[in-house]
Amino acid sequence: SANAMWGGRFAAGPSAIMQAINASIGFDQRLYAQDIRGSRAHAAMLAAQGILSDSDAQAIGEGLLTVLSEIEAGGFDFRADLEDIHMNVENRLRELIGPAAGRLHTARSRNDQVAVDFRLWVRDQCDAAVEGLTELMRAFVAQAEAGADWVMPGFTHLQTAQPVTWGHHMMAYVEMFARDRSRFADARARMNECPLGAAALAGTSFPIDRHATAAALGFDRPTANSLDSVSDRDFALEFLSASSICAMHLSRFAEELVIWSSAQFRFVRLSDGFTTGSSIMPQKKNPDAAELIRAKIGRILGATVALFTIMKGLALTYSKDMQEDKEQVFDAADSLMLSLAAMTGMVTDMSANRAALAAAAGSGFSTATDLADWLVRELGLPFRDAHHVTGTLVKLAEDKGCDLPDLTLADMQAVHARITAEVFGVLGVENSVRSRTSYGGTAPDQVRAQIARWKELLA
Ligand code: ARG
Repeated sequence: SANAMWGGRFAAGPSAIMQAINASIGFDQRLYAQDIRGSRAHAAMLAAQGILSDSDAQAIGEGLLTVLSEIEAGGFDFRADLEDIHMNVENRLRELIGPAAGRLHTARSRNDQVAVDFRLWVRDQCDAAVEGLTELMRAFVAQAEAGADWVMPGFTHLQTAQPVTWGHHMMAYVEMFARDRSRFADARARMNECPLGAAALAGTSFPIDRHATAAALGFDRPTANSLDSVSDRDFALEFLSASSICAMHLSRFAEELVIWSSAQFRFVRLSDGFTTGSSIMPQKKNPDAAELIRAKIGRILGATVALFTIMKGLALTYSKDMQEDKEQVFDAADSLMLSLAAMTGMVTDMSANRAALAAAAGSGFSTATDLADWLVRELGLPFRDAHHVTGTLVKLAEDKGCDLPDLTLADMQAVHARITAEVFGVLGVENSVRSRTSYGGTAPDQVRAQIARWKELLA
């Protein structure tokens, strides 16, 4: 039989396959709370404008609350033949209050309805991401504070570069996640305009008050162009883009945790709560959570690419292609929130191995740059010459199987005659990090200043 919501011009109902490809209720039921909230605001506005009688509006408003509690109680009969969340809710409303339910859809279309529902949902996810990132940043700051001046190797190309501090490394992630947080906040501010009242695409002839519904739903203002209102999904793309960048940052630290927790590095110990064992190898403690977080960027960026691809060729305004937006965003949001929570737990629980960090910091000729800088500062060598002299000394140490501080003064003077015993003062890693006092550098005082600033901002 023909569809009760739009079947007037149809003699027959959709084929089973049509229904299977068309129905979105399997996933868009997640929008039930937003759908009911939007409908309640719409009905109240219609009544205030005299478009709906007060008694109808009251029956609709109360009926919608009943639907809400039925869905929240579980066991609500979501029907695929009713396509989506919008028609499932309205159909149940009709069962509850009768024909007055049919007046709810006055001056509205599913096109602006889904646009407002989805915006409300994505807006909440931006808030959740901001919250999750704030918790994560706090966890990194706590780690930084615990070892603000602990030395460790800084890497480029994953090769030992220069000594840095544990605190400095932790605070690097605070900066990244702070930018992620501001991207979600920016996206939220930009998406906070209400498309409800754009109707199908052209607006409506009913004397609606779009400013009232926008305000009732917590939007800053109504959207300014009805065609744009039902066409646009860039708010979802912004959320996905911010999520992708954030997931990329999470993935980088996850990779570091995988490396650092290995027996070869032993920089950190992950807690039992965020590791798993092996069913065959009794000694194993695997960093599965870190690995899964490292992988989530695949899904999240995949969702981003999918929605860009879905949207890119669509002529204005609404096309059913756009129904494919939701699963991508739902999956990306779920993946991101879970990753943020798991990473926060892992960072909170992990313990850095100060001795292993220090031992690694001193190996691999990590203070070679300090030696070259000393030659420039104390002997007046041009940096390029100092670089060459130091390189020769590194090669000598490598041949002797020792580190730079283990070379004798005679070894040094054989390479450059004017080197004095004072050079040994700059070859220690503690000295090296203390000397990096430039703004934002790894000197413990600089790191403590970063920590203090973020503690205040995150309080
Ligand atoms: N389920 C649809 C979606 O998610 C709702 C909008 C339907 N609009 C329409 N003209 N068929 O996009």
